[in-house]
Amino acid sequence: MDNRPIGFFDSGLGGLTCIPYLMKALPNERIIYFGDTARTPYGSKAPSTITAFSLQIANFLVQNNVKMIVIACNTVSATCLDELRKMFPKIPVLGIITPAAKLVASTCTPNNHIGIIGTKVTIKSEAYTTKILKFNPNLDINSIACPTFVPLIEEGIIQNEIMDLSIKYYLDNFISYNKIDTLVLGCTHYPLIRKNIQKLYPNIRIINPSEEILESIKMKLKDNNLLANSPSIDNTFYASDLSENFVNMINRIFENSEFKVAFKNFDLETYK
Ligand code: DGL
Repeated sequence: MDNRPIGFFDSGLGGLTCIPYLMKALPNERIIYFGDTARTPYGSKAPSTITAFSLQIANFLVQNNVKMIVIACNTVSATCLDELRKMFPKIPVLGIITPAAKLVASTCTPNNHIGIIGTKVTIKSEAYTTKILKFNPNLDINSIACPTFVPLIEEGIIQNEIMDLSIKYYLDNFISYNKIDTLVLGCTHYPLIRKNIQKLYPNIRIINPSEEILESIKMKLKDNNLLANSPSIDNTFYASDLSENFVNMINRIFENSEFKVAFKNFDLETYK
C-alpha cells in the first residue's frame, strides 16, 4: 500500500480528460497534475524540445514524491517515453498510447478501417500505427494531424461552429475517402470535442485513450503494491501559467464532487 500521489502531466489541460475516470475507479488515489500551459501546444514542436520540457516536468513530479508518473499526453508518449523511463527507473512511468493501441487491435470493427487523429508530432511518429499493427497486422490504418484543434480547445472554443468547421476541414475527406469506421482520439485534448465529432459523424465508433489508460494504471498500481488505502480528497493542480481556462476546466470537472482542488502556479525553471 502506498498513499503517495500519482503524478499526471500534459502540455496543458488535455490530460485532465483522464482524471474523472481515475477518480471514479480509484477514489483513494491522490493526484498531482501538471499542465504546461505556458508552453502549450507541444504538438508542433521539435522532439528535442518536447523531451527537454518533459524531463523537467517529470523531475518536478518526482521531487513532489509521486509514486507513479502518467504521461497524459500522446505527443510526449510518442516522443520520449523511453527517455523518461530511463531517467526515473525507480518509479513506473506509463504512456497513453499502448493501452489504446491494444484495445484497437483486439476488437473487431465493421470493416477494419481505423483512423488515428492527433498532433503533427504524434502522427509523424507513427507510434499508434506501429503499435496497433504489431498487435494486429490485419487492420487498415490511416492517420491525420489536426493541428488547429488543441489551440482552439485551450482557448475554450469548443461547442461552436468554428470548432465544427475545423473538424470538417480535417475529417470530412479523411473519413469518407478511407472509409473509416473507428476513430482513435490520439490527443488527450480531443475527448473535449468528442461530442462535436460524434454529431458530425454519427456512425463512427470513437476510441478514447484517456479512458483506456485507466486499466493500465490500476494494474500497474496493483502489481507494484502501490494502491492507496485511505480515501483522499486532496488534489493539486499545477500549471506553468495558471490561466483562467485551466482553472475553469478543472472546476468544471470537479463541479459535482467533494474533491478539494488546490491550484498552484509553478515556475519550472527551478527544475532545469
Ligand atoms: N494533449 C496532448 C496530446 O495528447 C498535446 C497537445 C499539444 O500540446 O499539442 O498529444
